Formats: sequence, C-alpha cells, structure tokens
Amino acid sequence: MMDLVLTLSAILITLTKTSVATCACTRRASVIQTFYMATNGAKWLRPWDMSSADVPCGLEGVTCDVALGDITVISVAGRSLRGSLPTALGQLTAMTTFSVANNSLSGTVPPELSSCIALYSFDIWRNSLSGTLPPEFRAWTKMFVFSVGSNQLTGTLPEAYSAWGASQAFFYVDTNLLSGTLPGAFSSWTALEVFTAYSNSISGTLPPEYQSWASITDYHIQANSLTGSLPSTYSALVNLTTFDCSGNLLSGSLPEAFASLMKLEKFYAFGNSLSGTLPPGYGAWKNVTGVLLYTNAISGTLPSEYAQWTRVETIDFGVNALSGTLPAAYSRWTALTVLHLGLNSIWA
Ligand SMILES: *[C@@H]1O[C@H](CO)[C@@H](O)[C@H](O)[C@H]1NC(C)=O
Ligand SMILES: *[C@@H]1O[C@H](CO)[C@@H](O)[C@H](O)[C@H]1NC(C)=O
Ligand SMILES: *[C@@H]1O[C@H](CO)[C@@H](O)[C@H](O)[C@H]1NC(C)=O
Repeated sequence: MMDLVLTLSAILITLTKTSVATCACTRRASVIQTFYMATNGAKWLRPWDMSSADVPCGLEGVTCDVALGDITVISVAGRSLRGSLPTALGQLTAMTTFSVANNSLSGTVPPELSSCIALYSFDIWRNSLSGTLPPEFRAWTKMFVFSVGSNQLTGTLPEAYSAWGASQAFFYVDTNLLSGTLPGAFSSWTALEVFTAYSNSISGTLPPEYQSWASITDYHIQANSLTGSLPSTYSALVNLTTFDCSGNLLSGSLPEAFASLMKLEKFYAFGNSLSGTLPPGYGAWKNVTGVLLYTNAISGTLPSEYAQWTRVETIDFGVNALSGTLPAAYSRWTALTVLHLGLNSIWA
C-alpha cells in the first residue's frame, strides 16, 4: 500500500512538472534578448513581452523546434526595427529562416552569421545596411533565398557564394551600391529561378557561363555599367519570362539564337549601344507582351514575322536607325496599347 502511494505521488509530481512545460529553447533567451535590445525592441510595432517566463517561446515571429531544442525561425519583417544586427545571432546554428526585411536597420552585416549553417532563407531586404557582403556566407550550403536588395551595400559580389551550388534558387541583390563584375563561377547555381542585380554599379560583361541557369524565369541586370555583348549562349535559358538588361553599356547585335526563348514575356534592352538588325526569328516569342529596344543603334527593317506577337501590349523601338515600312501584318497586334517608333525612318 505504502509502495503504491509512493508510486502515485511520483506520477503526480511528474505530471505536475510536465504541465508547466518550460520553453524548449530557453537556452537561447539571451541571444533573443541581445537581438531585441540591439534593434530597439521597445519601439517595435507589437513589441515582444520579454518579461514572460516562456521567452523565447511564444514571441511573435520566433519558432522554437521542440525536438531540436533550438530556434529555427526569426521573422520580424516590417516591425520598425532600428539599430544593428548583433553578432550573437551566429549562435543560432539551427535557424533556417531569418527575416528582418522592411525595417530601418543600419550598420554592417556580421560575418559571424556564417555560423548559421542551417539557413535556407536570409532576408534583409529594404533596410539601411552598409558594408560588404561577407564571403564567409559561403558556409550556407542550404541557401535557397538570398534577399539583400534595397540597402546600401558596397563592394563586389563574393565569388565564394558559388559554393551554394544547386540549392540557390532566388538571389536578390538589387538597389545597392555594389561594384565589380558578375562572377562566372555563379554558373554553379544550376537550379536558379530568379536573379535580380539591377540598380547597382556592376561592370564587366555578362558571363556566357550563365547558360547553366536552365530554370531561370526572371533575369534582371538593368541599370548597371555592363559592357560587351549579349551572350548567344543564353539561348539555353528556355524558361525565361523576363529578361531586362536595359540601361547598361552593352554593344553588339541581338543574338539570333534568342529565338529559342519561347516563354519570353518581357524583353527590355533599351538604353544601350546595341547595333545590327532585328532578328526575324524573334517572331517565335508567341507570349511576348513587352519589347523595349529604344535608344540603341539598331538598323534594318521591321520583320513581318513580329506580327505573330499577338499578345503584345507595349513596343518601343524608338531612337534607333530603323528604316522601311510598317508591315501590314502588324494589324494582328490587337492587344497593343503603346507603339513608339519615333526618330527612326519608318513609313506607316
Ligand atoms: C513595410 O512595413 C510597414 C510597417 O512598418 C508596412 O506598413 C508596409 O506594408 C511594409 N511594406 C512592404 C512592401 O512590405
Ligand atoms: C521549365 O519550366 C517547366 C514548367 O514550369 C518545368 O517543368 C521545367 O522543369 C523547367 N525547365 C528547367 C530546365 O528547369
Ligand atoms: C504562353 O502562355 C500560356 C498561358 O498564358 C501558356 O499556357 C503557354 O504554355 C505559354 N507558351 C509558352 C511557349 O510558354
């Protein structure tokens, strides 16, 4: 009888203990506290309750994986964070997703974050972060979404990121102050879907090696200082829907081989020094809605084959050296809302 009572009380004690289960990530409370302080937590939109006994569990935007006993997600986009990213975040070695997008963070991006080797989504879009992109982030071998656009980052694109290989799918570095060239070694990103590096000061040529990006749908490198010609190897990028290389210093002609880009919807190459003629083969772009080639040095005539662009809405071939007549077959452009051919020598 005595034994049974003892056993029952032991069970009761165990039950009582588990029912006031503590947070499985308590050991990370100090890292979270450091992050909160460094980013002016008290002034956030919907601040965290750091007095709760359960910290860091129960904090909005924090996920604690009970099995791992570690934090896997910090997601505090658009919460009015101000201040800097603390190096202590590097202790979160199980973190897969980190987003502080759309805040007012400043200072540099700590290389110590390279210790977060489980990261597959890193999003610091739209802050005021400066300094360079740490080459140490090559350690993120699961990197899938890398989003650092709309900051004040300087320096070059680290060639070391080529180590991400086939895990890398979405790469956003647009609207920064980046310079240097596009590393040919990024051709290792064979599962890349989106590449946006527009509005920087990137120079050099478009790497022909990027023909390995067979899955890419969106390729944006406009508003940089790129030179050289459009690589005909990009004819292999058959899933491209948007290609924008406008506002660079590109020269040479429009590759005839791009006729293979049958899914193209937007082809923007205006504001360069492209010459040569309009390839008739581009008539194969059955789904194209916008073709902007204005302000180049393209000559020759308008190919009647472009009459096959039955979905086209916007065409601007203005300020080139085109001549001849407007093909009668262009009457098939029934969705057209904008047609600019001015400052050429075309007769309607
Ligand atoms: C950015 O965050 C603010 C709140 O700070 C929100 O109102 C706005 O919709 C967000 N913008 C975007 C583009 O996410
Ligand atoms: C192109 O897109 C299609 C449809 O989304 C997909 O099935 C195919 O695998 C893609 N091709 C490549 C090379 O990624
Ligand atoms: C054109 O777009 C339609 C849907 O809008 C799609 O079904 C079709 O596959 C596209 N054509 C090509 C060549 O991608």
